[in-house]
This record gives sequence, structure tokens and C-alpha cells, in this order.
Amino acid sequence: MHSHAEMIGVGSYLPERRLTNADLEGMVDTSDEWIVTRTGIRERRLAEKGESTSHLAVEAARRAMADAGVGRDEIDLLVLGTSSPDMIFPATACLVQAALGLSCPAYDAMAACTGFVYALHAGTTAIESGRARTVLVVGADALTRHVDFTDRSTCVLFGDGAGAVVLRSSERPGVCGIALGTDGSGADLLGIPAGGSALPVTHERIDANLHKVKMNGNEVFRFAVRVTPKVALDALGQSGIDVGDLAYVIPHQANQRIIDAIAERLDIPRDRVFSNIATTGNTSAASIPLALDELYTSGQLSPGDLVALIGFGAGLTWGAAVVEWTKATPSKEA
Ligand SMILES: CC(C)(COP(=O)(O)OP(=O)(O)OC[C@H]1O[C@@H](n2cnc3c(N)ncnc32)[C@H](O)[C@@H]1OP(=O)(O)O)[C@@H](O)C(=O)NCCC(=O)NCCS
Repeated sequence: MHSHAEMIGVGSYLPERRLTNADLEGMVDTSDEWIVTRTGIRERRLAEKGESTSHLAVEAARRAMADAGVGRDEIDLLVLGTSSPDMIFPATACLVQAALGLSCPAYDAMAACTGFVYALHAGTTAIESGRARTVLVVGADALTRHVDFTDRSTCVLFGDGAGAVVLRSSERPGVCGIALGTDGSGADLLGIPAGGSALPVTHERIDANLHKVKMNGNEVFRFAVRVTPKVALDALGQSGIDVGDLAYVIPHQANQRIIDAIAERLDIPRDRVFSNIATTGNTSAASIPLALDELYTSGQLSPGDLVALIGFGAGLTWGAAVVEWTKATPSKEA
């Protein structure tokens, strides 16, 4: 008898340091007006000096574990979605595992901005197969470390952060449906060309800025709007849930215009499509659990609510999960 996976804890972490559009106006040829109208972003957070992806992940994971009321001995598996690991190897999940004092296996899922949904798929599958009872799933990125702050077309978009959930085996879903997609033929549309085994770091490559994020923004935009409604419907179809049954859709926070297009294509009212991109920017694998935590802690989620989480990103990758929320609304004093 297969069990299901439910979310019993959620937590997130944003670094203190803010980078506003006004700050960016002093760095590249841009304007607050352009950034707000083209992306919806007003400010984003930057990891502090000395703070890396693992630090962000640890803080979010601690909060999720406290929210779930689980101890470190109870975690059977840690899966971390990130594309800005502390280093090429070891996996950032190993650093997080040690910092949290866990003794479980830990690995990274690298699916760029879809990293959290991929990690959630791995955690859910481990529980459904009976190989794990409690799984810590984290999405964390510090992509501003890899952004070219002389390239106005990318540097205005990204911010740093982390979010996490604790999954536990349960009698009833929980995670009602989850679907993933990959199209590697679009790998050149978004990524960091140098620093891996294809183009190891050299002075020349650094001089050419090949160790920084490169993106074909228009193509990525079109891809996101094309694939996300379809994968959401795939995940919904797995348990016979209609779009109209959803209390909320949480799309990956990449661009407000993409979020609006997803709402329109799914034909779901705007007030049921969550957005916090104005204050976070694109935090990559962190964006969905950050948004989920904000929705939960602000008291907007009730037990029984159905929520669709929709991710997309470099790879190209995409994925969606439909979750029945089972946690009680936190009290105001919490
Ligand atoms: C990047 C993005 C915001 C650009 O918006 P856009 O409306 O497509 O703008 P374009 O790329 O067509 O550029 C329009 C003009 O604005 C300029 N521009 C680009 N960035 C600018 C900035 N920060 N400030 C001012 N002007 C800017 C361009 O140079 C271009 O000028 P030109 O017409 O003189 O060449 C948009 O394509 C996007 O969000 N794409 C998806 C990116 C994404 O989500 N990536 C992560 C996926 S997980």
C-alpha cells in the first residue's frame, strides 16, 4: 500500500540587504519605470558578504523544521533545488545537512528555477514508494553572485533567498499531482556558459564575462507562457481537480507579465494568483516556497485549500504540483 506525502512545515529566509530599482539606476542605464512596467520588480534582496546559498538554505530549513515540529533525527532525506551551489562539488545539500546536524542522505537537484518542483517530486516519490517517511525539501539560490551587473537586461531581474517544506507520509494526499518537463534543446537560452567542464575557468573567459548569467529574454518569456498552463493542467488531471477548484496558483516569480499571462491562459481570477515579485525579484528555486510561506504565514491558506505550484526555468525545465493544504492557519501572534 503506497502512502502519500503531505506538507507539515514551511519556512523561508530572505537576506536583509535590499537592492532597489533606484540603486540599479546608479549602476546601469535603466529606470525604475522600465523595470516596473516590463517586470513588476521594485526591489530584490542580496545575500550578505560571506553569506552563500547554503546559509540561506539552512535558515529556511530551520524555520520549516520548527514549523513542522520535527527533530533532526526524523529527517530521512534532504533534497535541495539550487543552480547557484556554494561550489561545483560537494553538493550544497551536504553542507546544509551538516549545518543542521542531520544524518540522512542529501543531494542537490539542479533544475534552475524549476529546482524546487524537481526536489519536491523527488521527496514526494521517496515517500510514496515507502523509502522515506519525512523529507526536507529546500529551494535556495544566490544568483546575484552570478549576475553581470553591467548587463541591464539580466541584472535587474534576480534576487537571493531560500524556502523549504517538510514532507511527511500520510494516509491521504497531500501532494495530489506532480508533473515535470524538460527540453534540453533550449539549453542555450539561459545559463552560465563557463566554469564547468565544457568551458573551465580561464582569465580570457572571465574577461569575456562567460562566468556570468546569459539569457535570451524574449525566447525564455515565450517558452514560460507556452509550457506552464499545460504542465499545471497535467498535474491537476492526475487527481481529477479542475482549475476552478484551486484556492491559489503560485507561479514561479520571474516576471509579473508572465504571471499575468499564466492567470489569463488558465482562466483564473488574478486575486487567486499569488505574486510577491515586486519585493523579491526572481529568486530562482527559492521563489515558490518563499511565496508559499508568505501565503501561509499571512493567514491566507486554510486546511483543504488546493494550491498549484508552477515552475519553469533554464534547461529548459518546467514542472507543476497540486497540493491540498492540511496545516491550520497560524494564529496572529505566531
Ligand atoms: C528580460 C525581459 C524583462 C525583457 O523585456 P522585453 O519587454 O522583452 O524587452 P526587450 O528584451 O525586447 O528589450 C526592449 C528594449 O529594452 C532594453 N532594455 C533591456 N533591459 C533594460 C533595462 N533594464 N532598462 C532599460 N532598458 C532595457 C533593451 O535593450 C531593448 O532596447 P532596444 O529596443 O533599443 O534594443 C523579458 O524578456 C523577460 O522577462 N523574459 C523572461 C526572463 C525570465 O523570466 N528569465 C528567468 C526565467 S526562470
